[in-house]
Amino acid sequence: MADLTTDFLGIKSPNPFWLASAPPTDKEYNVRRAFEAGWGGVVWKTLGAEGPPVVNVNGPRYGAIYGADRRLLGLNNIELITDRPLEVNLEEIARVKSDYPDRAVIVSIMVPCEEAAWKAILPRVAETGADGIELNFGCPHGMSERGMGSAVGQVPEYIEMVTRWCKTHYDKPVIVKLTPNITDIRFPARAAKNGGADAVSLINTISSITSVDLDTFSPEPSIDGKGSHGGYCGPAVKPIALNMVAEIARDPETRGLPISGIGGVTTWRDAAEFMSLGCGTVQVCTAAMTYGFRIVEELNAGLSKWMDEKGYSNTADIVGRAVPNVTDWQYLNLNYVAKAKIDQDQCIKCGRCYAACEDTSHQAISMSPDRVFEVIDEECVACNLCVDVCPVEGCISMVPMKPGEVDPRTGKVVEAEYANWTTHPNNPMAKAAE
Ligand SMILES: Cc1cc2nc3c(=O)[nH]c(=O)nc-3n(C[C@H](O)[C@H](O)[C@H](O)COP(=O)(O)O)c2cc1C
Ligand code: SF4
Ligand code: SF4
Repeated sequence: MADLTTDFLGIKSPNPFWLASAPPTDKEYNVRRAFEAGWGGVVWKTLGAEGPPVVNVNGPRYGAIYGADRRLLGLNNIELITDRPLEVNLEEIARVKSDYPDRAVIVSIMVPCEEAAWKAILPRVAETGADGIELNFGCPHGMSERGMGSAVGQVPEYIEMVTRWCKTHYDKPVIVKLTPNITDIRFPARAAKNGGADAVSLINTISSITSVDLDTFSPEPSIDGKGSHGGYCGPAVKPIALNMVAEIARDPETRGLPISGIGGVTTWRDAAEFMSLGCGTVQVCTAAMTYGFRIVEELNAGLSKWMDEKGYSNTADIVGRAVPNVTDWQYLNLNYVAKAKIDQDQCIKCGRCYAACEDTSHQAISMSPDRVFEVIDEECVACNLCVDVCPVEGCISMVPMKPGEVDPRTGKVVEAEYANWTTHPNNPMAKAAE
């Protein structure tokens, strides 16, 4: 059976599934129950500086986006960092770590952008025996207006400076949690590395307004008729997170920097995808908040079964495996040609593929009077839209053409050789380089 144990920065955990810093990790009661359920580690809900704790709103703090079956696809929140006293959190962290020495316990921190503030809290966190810290440079609401969270994460120089302070005043691993609310994720990642970070974690939430109440015209969640932007997470953000993870994994300046992947992880498959793009661990928030702690059983079982089937004996075997296959558009093989093919036995004759291709693509699907839908190879550009809109999984597939065959759309022979845009005759830059 596959070995799911994970060694991330020297921090061992029985599996790569950590709960992200959020309500599931806000207190001892939750974390103990999470560990009993089987989670490999937790990142404790973000601690703030000593003093009166932050104050949350007393009305709704979440908004949601649903699929047609009311499955939660995206969650928006306006919650702040922990609103419980620092002392209480620190005592609880120490107790939990001592009772669960085999699990990863990371403490998330967000204090003002002054060295004294970091210097004050770090020894107290160190005393808990926690395995490391995560710097919350990501929270996009509430705290950012106070000069913390994403207000720091959006300025690479600040990231580097604060990371360096933490490496000076704390001797265990420092993970820098990045905000996705930035144009190019490579810059904050490079700054974290330059500051001495042991790893980065991403993504934190994306600035968002989920919806507007059309009776009151208040953005939701609505607090007494007013709303403010929140942070978006859940399955909807996974593609954004995967791309940002991949950008860091393949950037020559940050390649090899350990990554903890976060953003929409709901199934073992999501986790395996993050790991294949270079994540040594994955963190989960929305899925645990939606389905409860016991989803970790399915995450563990699913990952382990897939690894067994594929012959991967431990998690290190899959980490980063997809990174060499992430490339820039200009290097994609323009000699690769495919055509859509409809499996008539599976087709339920709904006509969605026809509507999509006829109205918005390439008029490459025909509809007969008795609703038989067929692809017209002479028109099909293999865009994949029909596959994406077809309600029957596997009913339409993309079939690659073989070298030597003639593409009926272009009349050209399919070439076996790889050829990309950089040398294409239509590329003015290629011509200029000749
Ligand atoms: C209600 C809520 C509170 C959160 N609080 C924190 C926090 O205190 N610190 C932090 O670093 N991230 C916080 N997050 C962000 C999560 O840790 C995580 O980065 C994000 O939700 C993406 O993961 P997911 O798609 O699995 O939810 C919070 C998320 C939610 C939903
Ligand atoms: S792949 Fe695109 S062009 Fe081809 S049939 Fe489907 S929708 Fe039309
Ligand atoms: S969308 Fe799929 S099921 Fe519907 S007609 Fe097209 S091939 Fe058939």
